[in-house]
Amino acid sequence: MGLQHIPVLVEEVMTFLRCEAGRTYVDATLGGGGHASEILKRTAPDGVLIGMEWDEDALFEATRTLKPFGDRVRIFRENFIQLPGLMKNESVDGILLDLGLSSIQLEKEGRGFSFREDSPLYMRMDQRLDQTAADLVNGLSSEELEYVIFHHGEERWAKRIARAVVQEREREPIRTTEALRRVVYRAIPKRFHSRRIDPATRTFQALRIQVNEELENLRKILDTGWRILKRGGRMCVISFHSLEDRMVKETVRKLEKEGEMRILTKKPVTPSEEEQERNPRSRSAKLRCAERI
Ligand SMILES: C[S@@+](CC[C@H](N)C(=O)[O-])C[C@H]1O[C@@H](n2cnc3c(N)ncnc32)[C@H](O)[C@@H]1O
Repeated sequence: MGLQHIPVLVEEVMTFLRCEAGRTYVDATLGGGGHASEILKRTAPDGVLIGMEWDEDALFEATRTLKPFGDRVRIFRENFIQLPGLMKNESVDGILLDLGLSSIQLEKEGRGFSFREDSPLYMRMDQRLDQTAADLVNGLSSEELEYVIFHHGEERWAKRIARAVVQEREREPIRTTEALRRVVYRAIPKRFHSRRIDPATRTFQALRIQVNEELENLRKILDTGWRILKRGGRMCVISFHSLEDRMVKETVRKLEKEGEMRILTKKPVTPSEEEQERNPRSRSAKLRCAERI
């Protein structure tokens, strides 16, 4: 049994995408292939799925999950910002972006995403990227670190954490998840350690977003991805971070004003209580969908 990722908001996404036989969809964030296999089941016998994933481990799981669908699946190991270029003049009926990290990445040993195991501080989703979280932690100025931790992590203790990191690395470079976790724990006053989320959560999230340039990539795909949709084709985006959700909301509003798209979700769709209970990772998920006019 490999690593597993439970897909979120599956029924909601399928309803918006209106999967039918013969249609073509892009899953730009394949992960373990959960959403993708649902799309393939619902577009049988001849629907096509174009999948993108830049992480080798996730790609391995997705390839295995999607094997039964044979040549109805085309998979690319690419950053999703390459999508318009890959598609050349082809257009599609729907695009799904399910942002952030998969459980496969979080749980696999040695990737550096989790502070629950001691590992080198990598945090690269695409193992081919040059920059690691350790490079940032040991290379950015105190002000730059504070900016990243505050904005990408929404961490109110960003200044103290940034200073503590700089102090620690003067003694010895911070190279592991455990070393970073300890610095963050010490930097946040004990009485403010939340019981609900681990004190290191926000700092780790912030560094991951920066290492993988997640906001820049989202900006690019939102600006260009809709152009490969057919008229009536739909784009669904699931985000887990308020900065991402805001970017999605503002971009589709702009596209609606320009007469390119129609918004189908005035408010973001969120998981039912039942789903949140079954899959706690779904709690912060927000789905927005728009249709090409
Ligand atoms: C939340 S998971 C997707 C889970 C998937 N929907 C499923 O059902 O298993 C997000 C995935 O998107 C991938 N990803 C994030 N940014 C990407 C990018 N710019 N290009 C390609 N893949 C990306 C990550 O590596 C991760 O595997």
